[in-house]
Amino acid sequence: MKLCGRTLVCSGILGLIGVVGAFDCAPSSKSYTIKTAQDAADIITCPTFTGSIIVAADGPKTVSLDGISSILGNIDIENSAQLQSLSSSTLTAVASFTLNNLPKLSNLSFPALTNFSSLTWSNLPSLTECTVATGAVQGEIQDVTIYNTSLKALDWLKWPIGTGLNISNNANLQAFDIPYSAINAGSALTFSNNPNLTTIDVSRLTGIYGGLDVTSNTQVLQMAFDNLEIIGGFVQLSGAFTNVSMPAMSRITGAFTVRSTGDITNLCNSLEKQQLTGHYTCMPNADAHTTTSGGSATPTSTSTSDSDDSSEADSNNGGLGRGEIAGVVIACIVSAILALVAAFFYFRRRLRAKVQEITQKKDANDSDSSLDRHSRKSWSRRA
Ligand SMILES: *[C@@H]1O[C@H](CO)[C@@H](O)[C@H](O)[C@H]1NC(C)=O
Ligand SMILES: *[C@@H]1O[C@H](CO)[C@@H](O)[C@H](O)[C@H]1NC(C)=O
Ligand SMILES: *[C@@H]1O[C@H](CO)[C@@H](O)[C@H](O)[C@H]1NC(C)=O
Ligand SMILES: *[C@@H]1O[C@H](CO)[C@@H](O)[C@H](O)[C@H]1NC(C)=O
Ligand SMILES: *[C@@H]1O[C@H](CO)[C@@H](O)[C@H](O)[C@H]1NC(C)=O
Ligand SMILES: *[C@@H]1O[C@H](CO)[C@@H](O)[C@H](O)[C@H]1NC(C)=O
Repeated sequence: MKLCGRTLVCSGILGLIGVVGAFDCAPSSKSYTIKTAQDAADIITCPTFTGSIIVAADGPKTVSLDGISSILGNIDIENSAQLQSLSSSTLTAVASFTLNNLPKLSNLSFPALTNFSSLTWSNLPSLTECTVATGAVQGEIQDVTIYNTSLKALDWLKWPIGTGLNISNNANLQAFDIPYSAINAGSALTFSNNPNLTTIDVSRLTGIYGGLDVTSNTQVLQMAFDNLEIIGGFVQLSGAFTNVSMPAMSRITGAFTVRSTGDITNLCNSLEKQQLTGHYTCMPNADAHTTTSGGSATPTSTSTSDSDDSSEADSNNGGLGRGEIAGVVIACIVSAILALVAAFFYFRRRLRAKVQEITQKKDANDSDSSLDRHSRKSWSRRA
């Protein structure tokens, strides 16, 4: 009896301590801010944490989340001046994972991550390498942005992205491999301003139904689209390419623009030879910074362009007179109507043939109109 009573009291006390010490794994505030090392030690008692995890601006140097396996919410860490190391060997799921402006972050390790919808990492100057998602990922990853980091490699980033992949302004990145065969409709890949990037391996791509935008990566000189057959979306390449090859290209139903300060005449010639339907613009030896007006730049290639309106504008160095403006406007309207009529017949034909539907990014239209201003210096062909 006595023993029993003691045990009861004991367990009661223990239970009390337990209640006091229990960490709320689903706080009503839906978020938890780590301010100290102890805060991090507390939260890892939760196998699943419901809410978002934040690290305070003056938070600790090291945050280890070993122990948590799911975060039903986000990791959102911004402007933490001291944070050097962030890791979890157990975390498999988080909704979105944002790291921004962490000047000292150099150690980032989330090998078990398999389930997340977006990852936005920006302004991480000390981050040269990381370990992320080393196994197969589950579900579709929607968005990945790697912006202004010192990462040297992104080998782990090897899955198709649902909406957008943006790899920009990474000073040390040297190569990126697109290890799948299609860029799907609705998905856009952007590579821009990566000064050390020399290789973008696009050799596995057979179809681009979404977007591919490669801009201002000064060291990317070659792009070998060895197996690309279809551009059904929007592809824009601009840079200092000396060799862009598309030996298998057979159909452009979206929009393709390639512009290089280098000589890519071979590509322009080979596209020309293939009598592709659809719109493309191929500009070899283009100026690095072409302005949209002023006719001083000399055309660098013979033009097969059908844009009569631009040659009219070309003969005119100063401002356009009213009549000329009216003429240009009328020409524009007429071309627009012709384009609409052509598009109508084109899509009707496609529908009839029950060709698989290919979504065209709406950006294509926007940039088309600005690109058309350069078309007198370009090779272009329309459906
Ligand atoms: C980096 O993170 C790993 C994995 O958690 C850890 O083992 C290692 O000690 C950390 N290194 C530094 C320098 O903080
Ligand atoms: C890159 O990040 C560093 C450090 O956060 C910042 O000082 C710099 O302005 C950023 N550069 C760009 C181009 O955003
Ligand atoms: C991914 O995580 C979400 C929420 O964390 C969950 O609802 C979903 O079932 C998980 N998906 C897979 C494939 O595990
Ligand atoms: C890529 O990300 C940077 C930083 O968030 C942003 O400024 C830029 O507009 C993004 N580019 C695209 C095409 O989304
Ligand atoms: C390119 O990378 C090398 C080695 O990582 C580095 O030393 C160099 O500064 C980088 N160049 C630029 C332009 O950032
Ligand atoms: C251009 O690249 C392709 C594919 O890598 C290659 O077969 C071809 O020989 C290259 N052309 C030149 C002129 O270097």
